[in-house]
Amino acid sequence: MNPREEIAALREEIAQHNAAYYLRDEPLIPDIEYDALVRRLAALEKEHPDLASETPIGATPENTFAPVTHAVAMLSLDNVFDDDETVAWVQRVARGLEIDPSQVTVTAEPKIDGLAVSLTYLDGELTLGATRGNGTVGEDVTENVRTIANIPPRISSTGRVDVRGEVYIARADFEKLNAAQRAASAKEFANPRNAAAGSLRQKDPRVTATRPLSFLAYQVVVNDSHELASVARHRDVLAQLAAWGFDVSDETTVCVGAAEIVAAEHRFAAIRHDLRYDIDGLVYKLDDLASREALGFTSRAPRWAIARKLPPEEQTTTLIAIEVSVGRTGRVTPYAVLEPVVVAGSTVQMATLHNEDQVRLKDVRPGDQVIVRKAGDVIPEVVSAVLGRGETRAEPWIFPTNCPDCHAPLVRREGESDTYCTNRACPAQQVQQIVHFASRGAMDIEGLGEQRVAQLIEAGLLVDVADLYELSTSHIAALDGLGELSATALVSAIATSKSQPLSRLLVGLGIRHVGPVAARVIARHFGSLAAVAAASVEALAALDGVGSVIADSMVTYMGSQEGRERISRLIALEVAVSESSGDSLPATLAGRAVVITGTVPGFTRDEGEAAVIARGGSSPGSVSKKTYCVVVGDAPGQSKLTKAAELGIPVVLSENFPQLLETGEIPS
Ligand code: IVH
Repeated sequence: MNPREEIAALREEIAQHNAAYYLRDEPLIPDIEYDALVRRLAALEKEHPDLASETPIGATPENTFAPVTHAVAMLSLDNVFDDDETVAWVQRVARGLEIDPSQVTVTAEPKIDGLAVSLTYLDGELTLGATRGNGTVGEDVTENVRTIANIPPRISSTGRVDVRGEVYIARADFEKLNAAQRAASAKEFANPRNAAAGSLRQKDPRVTATRPLSFLAYQVVVNDSHELASVARHRDVLAQLAAWGFDVSDETTVCVGAAEIVAAEHRFAAIRHDLRYDIDGLVYKLDDLASREALGFTSRAPRWAIARKLPPEEQTTTLIAIEVSVGRTGRVTPYAVLEPVVVAGSTVQMATLHNEDQVRLKDVRPGDQVIVRKAGDVIPEVVSAVLGRGETRAEPWIFPTNCPDCHAPLVRREGESDTYCTNRACPAQQVQQIVHFASRGAMDIEGLGEQRVAQLIEAGLLVDVADLYELSTSHIAALDGLGELSATALVSAIATSKSQPLSRLLVGLGIRHVGPVAARVIARHFGSLAAVAAASVEALAALDGVGSVIADSMVTYMGSQEGRERISRLIALEVAVSESSGDSLPATLAGRAVVITGTVPGFTRDEGEAAVIARGGSSPGSVSKKTYCVVVGDAPGQSKLTKAAELGIPVVLSENFPQLLETGEIPS
């Protein structure tokens, strides 16, 4: 291909992706691949200026909403991908302004992965909300925008003010939205950005109103209000936006000089997963508004701003196979076996597909190229297939009719989206139940992982959790790969677990709806396993934080033949008989909320929280007035620290965490 042909081909390809992304909300490729196409085109056009075209590659909105010509075009941003490119941009800005790079002052803001919206206020009244569209002409989505809870319908301004920002769906809201889609056997949204775009562009505003959209303001483009007349810096614009009642990002900082500017990227990369929303990078903007005027724009983007991209949370890879796994409740979950790929810093080779309907709705098939997404702590997911033209594909995948482990027929009940293996003796379920019993949050038996449990079941040494306490060293030492030494260690770990508090045992039994909080309330109240087993629904439901669903489930379990047998054996074996048994810890943090941010050396996130809870405290995910203190580990969340500083909440360094646990006092 000669350059002319390649440029034409690239422009056509990019136009197709723009249409898929902006108009149909169904991206065909991950952002990183799209960016590569755009960069290749830019490089070719730079090399061959005669072949460059003045017309931007657009995606003209379809005519479902009335067109709106933007008072000021909604441009995009140029991107940089590494520190060197960031420094080069700072140097270009410095040259343009005839200042030293050390004097370049910018704001660093999160680049939210949502969609840009322009809001027009006339004498304080919200009169228009428009999407970006092709940058020049967008869509009138005023009625839909009015349903977004954190967009003020009126502000205390005069004249005309056009506020720009991003409409997005917060990560937690997105998880809830997709859980609801799954429960309704409806197609999941690919990612928060697509969900936000699809929700905002609904024909019926009542549908939009049911979607958890939020807005974050980051710019004012038209302003003849006196409130902003004398404002000279972007940070002051943001402050005025906040004063008008808009959400602005708490994480925005002002950076002076190349070193600080580059460092902001590292900060955002570290706090990325603590933010409420997905970000795909950060945006640097010159703080001084007059300097912006001096630099101006290229045809596509301002020279005074740049987007620094963060490593993508989506990647393309090959779907090798679809398999199913059986959980401890018998639920059979399909998952994708993937060609290993690094996403958001970790290697992913398996990703959940949730249930039968999701596989059908996503129509992913073995052999397909698929987009895999992993945002923060969320379990990796297959988003969609990337279909090349005219490619031959495997047949659609069919959910198995029998359990992969015990071969019993699988059942999917009318109106439910999950499929179950109902064989109570299914070894796969037994393995998972016992693994759960031995897990950290329950009886915490070291050395009892999935493989070992499967081996013990296979050897006929283990059927029920109670059997664990009757295992002997000689039994275990006879197993493959286990000598006298590790057999002794395992038996002793099992014996030690006998003195765990009763609440952990209740968690380990895996009784439906009974989580650690309810288990603790129940164990504290009744005191012994025998008393819990004899408790009535009324007595249980009367406890604070228990309620009738948990109470019913508890009584059903204790009344079942399996439950009765297990409990009487556990009592006879003296396993976790009382809440205060063994090493139960002093309640040094009773009633206190300790927020942990970042990693505390020696503790996983769950262990840190568990340590606080074990001492009577709670460990919520966010800082409030009621927080006792904030423990700061490595790579802490900046927003939590800022909040703590604002509210005057004491901060405890991670090396002092053990002391805090022990004494309950805030170490100085
Ligand atoms: S400023 C002329 N600030 O990124 C400057 N954009 O790639 C216009 N975005 O269309 C944008 N967070 O949808 C700006 N803090 C932020 C942003 C942001 C996300 C999006 C916006 C824009 C796109 C440009």
